[in-house]
Amino acid sequence: MKIRDFQLERYFAKYEFNVKHLLSPSDCETRPVGEILGLPGGEWRERLNSLPLSYTESRGNPGIIGALDAIYGVGNDGIVVGCPEELIFLFMNSFLDAGDRVVCLSPAYQSLYELPRSIGCEVVLWKLTASGGRWSLDRDELKPLLKDRTKLLVVNFPHNPTGYMPTPEEFDMIGDLAEGSGAVVFSDEMYRGLELDAPRLPSFCGRENAVIMSGLSKGPGLPGLRTGWLASKRHGLISSVLAMKDYTTICNSGPGEVLAEAAIRNIDELMERNRTILRANAELAGKFFAGRPDLIEWIPPAGGTTAFPRLLDGNIEDLCRRAVGEKSLMVLPDSVFDAKDNRFRVGMGRLNFPEALGLFGELLEG
Ligand SMILES: Cc1ncc(COP(=O)(O)O)c(C=O)c1O
Repeated sequence: MKIRDFQLERYFAKYEFNVKHLLSPSDCETRPVGEILGLPGGEWRERLNSLPLSYTESRGNPGIIGALDAIYGVGNDGIVVGCPEELIFLFMNSFLDAGDRVVCLSPAYQSLYELPRSIGCEVVLWKLTASGGRWSLDRDELKPLLKDRTKLLVVNFPHNPTGYMPTPEEFDMIGDLAEGSGAVVFSDEMYRGLELDAPRLPSFCGRENAVIMSGLSKGPGLPGLRTGWLASKRHGLISSVLAMKDYTTICNSGPGEVLAEAAIRNIDELMERNRTILRANAELAGKFFAGRPDLIEWIPPAGGTTAFPRLLDGNIEDLCRRAVGEKSLMVLPDSVFDAKDNRFRVGMGRLNFPEALGLFGELLEG
């Protein structure tokens, strides 16, 4: 298999652990292992201490599957647990064939369109546009895009990096159009539950023709657990992923699954603390950027942890280089999203966001 470098992940690999501050992370504030083991709902510490380090069940620990089924209601056979990025890889590779038509919203987290391309699919982009102070997806564009027996529509709401969310009516329309055309929807719901200025949308897995992907990396702030899941009413799509997983990780880490189950059984509480941090940071970011209208075009995010403002004065690549060199601050330029609009990603999920924003302010003024 040949695949283009994942530009965002290569950028993070270069800077994430070599600079002091990050303006553009997409996760929320994390927690130490001790705190997760102290969560209610099970004897997590004892379970971890006495856990045999044997192989685990390929689909995922039955306790986790049961907790997820209580959330999604698709039946145990409709769920598989794995690393989020691995699950995107496995779904795309088990479902798609060379020549299939795939419609993917754009910009997007690269694996959502790069994996279909690497398989030899015809990938058509459904573009988000910024105008009148808001992001939008043109609903009239979708119907013609879903022509010619499109096999898969890929969406991601709340959206990384823009923070865009459709209205509930638009969301239903997207689902209806996909269903009418016979396309399956792959709905990346990593940021669901992190709504800022929009109502929470239902999960796409309530529909017959969809697979959803979510996990513990963003809202719960536990990316180091490498735990996510797919859920679908179409059990055959999940069993194909399960069969292919035998060629990647086979099964999940046992100790990781104890921590993941503790987190999933307390997911609302974990997310609520991070929603509070996110809301405060989003308000700060709104005031900061709105106060600099000559330098930055700011579109407030409707949900998720990120926003995608545009630098109006100067070149964003130069500014990102200066941020690293002068402030030890990582700022993600839009080129890593295959965009060339002089934008950058702002990530508002962590407690130290005000510090990173302050440094960015010094850079803009300097
Ligand atoms: C939209 C989206 N999907 C999937 C992922 C992958 O999650 P993970 O890094 O936990 O594998 C990310 C990570 O940034 C993401 O932003």
